[in-house]
Amino acid sequence: MTGTLPTHRPRSAVTPASAAGLRSGPPLAGAGMNAGDQVRVGSPNKRWRLLRRAPGPANAEGAMKTAAHEPVLDGLAPILLRHGCGCAECRDAGSGQRLASITDLPGDVSVTGARTAGNAVEVVFGPDGHRAVFSRAWLDDQRRPPEDDRAEDAKRLWAAGDYAAGLPWQSWPRYLDDARVREDCLAALLRDGFFLLRDVPCQPGTVLSVAGTAGYVRETNYGRLFDVRVEATPANLAFTGLPVAPHTDNPYRDPVPTVQLLHCLASAVDGGDSGLVDGFRAAALLRGADPAAFEILARTPVTFAYADAHAELRATRPMITTDPRGKIREIRFNSRSLQPLRLGREGSPDEAVAFYAAYRAFAETVIRPELMLTFRLAPGDCVVFDNTRILHARTGFAAAGQRHLQGCYADLDGAASALAVLRRARKAAR
Ligand code: OGA
Ligand code: ZN
Ligand code: ZN
Repeated sequence: MTGTLPTHRPRSAVTPASAAGLRSGPPLAGAGMNAGDQVRVGSPNKRWRLLRRAPGPANAEGAMKTAAHEPVLDGLAPILLRHGCGCAECRDAGSGQRLASITDLPGDVSVTGARTAGNAVEVVFGPDGHRAVFSRAWLDDQRRPPEDDRAEDAKRLWAAGDYAAGLPWQSWPRYLDDARVREDCLAALLRDGFFLLRDVPCQPGTVLSVAGTAGYVRETNYGRLFDVRVEATPANLAFTGLPVAPHTDNPYRDPVPTVQLLHCLASAVDGGDSGLVDGFRAAALLRGADPAAFEILARTPVTFAYADAHAELRATRPMITTDPRGKIREIRFNSRSLQPLRLGREGSPDEAVAFYAAYRAFAETVIRPELMLTFRLAPGDCVVFDNTRILHARTGFAAAGQRHLQGCYADLDGAASALAVLRRARKAAR
């Protein structure tokens, strides 16, 4: 079964979760061709473009021209090419891991010759006459920007209105049976920041099975899994019937768990509705409306802390983390665990005032109704989301009721790996 979970907004149509519009993933990490590929280069039926003769071992194919005139190598530094060499001397044929470290490579490496044959480019290096064979595709890949699927430009940022037709979901039995459904869900986790499964059996512990399909469970001070229900002496406000404002979990951990799962075993009769907010969208809106406030949140380390009878955790990081290009990459936002700002001796009260104004501006953005996707988890529903991007919330409910969720954490790199393996298998089967 595939379908949509009604949101608390007017809806016009039903949108099945599908592969439509999926961004195709980045290619597998590039590599020079392997030793076997080199044999093909010498194959007599290829027409070689002869370049300047290389020094070093005899060159069976004749003279070689200077590599500077080989357009296929334009813009690629000799040391980069030498680092990418995939020959049996440079890379272990079985694992594909590099055998040579940077200190094993000549510091004065140069390209003394290159020749092309169809899709293959053979490069001869100075000063040692080392030879590498690259595919044109690999050379093209080296000119692309670095791949980081965590930053805002690799995401589809959303607001509640983008889900006016309902929340996409997949059924757990189909997810288990069909690799393509798993692939679509994991792709949604990386692109949209979440996916929703229904028909997940209401047996305690099943959330761990869900997490296992999206990487590896991350054990925390709350255990491998945790129960979200009303407790007599709650160490966390999540374990009460109180409303919980949009937040990310465990901001007091470094590294923070990057994926969170919440599986509903029993819902409240009234209340306990869920909310999701795209924190990247909220941060981007803040950046547009008040760039100075955005900068303050991105540059000011703040401390989040948590303590109970068994744990005393703290982490000091900015609320908005940007990558070296200045793109939004991580959000930590949790009013329950944020500590009063410390600026040190150099800090002035004015700076503290400016920080709190920026924090308020972000908090006001995060709670804008048009940003929050609201829905109700029914027993058997399990939501999986990016805890470095998506803020989650719930409305209050009667503490006397039976509401019971089980949660656990996992990590985005494991989810990205599971997705890459699924894509690799599908492509290999074609
Ligand atoms: C949590 C939490 C939300 C809910 O346990 O981290 O935020 O719906 N729970 O109870
Ligand atoms: Zn090599
Ligand atoms: Zn939470």
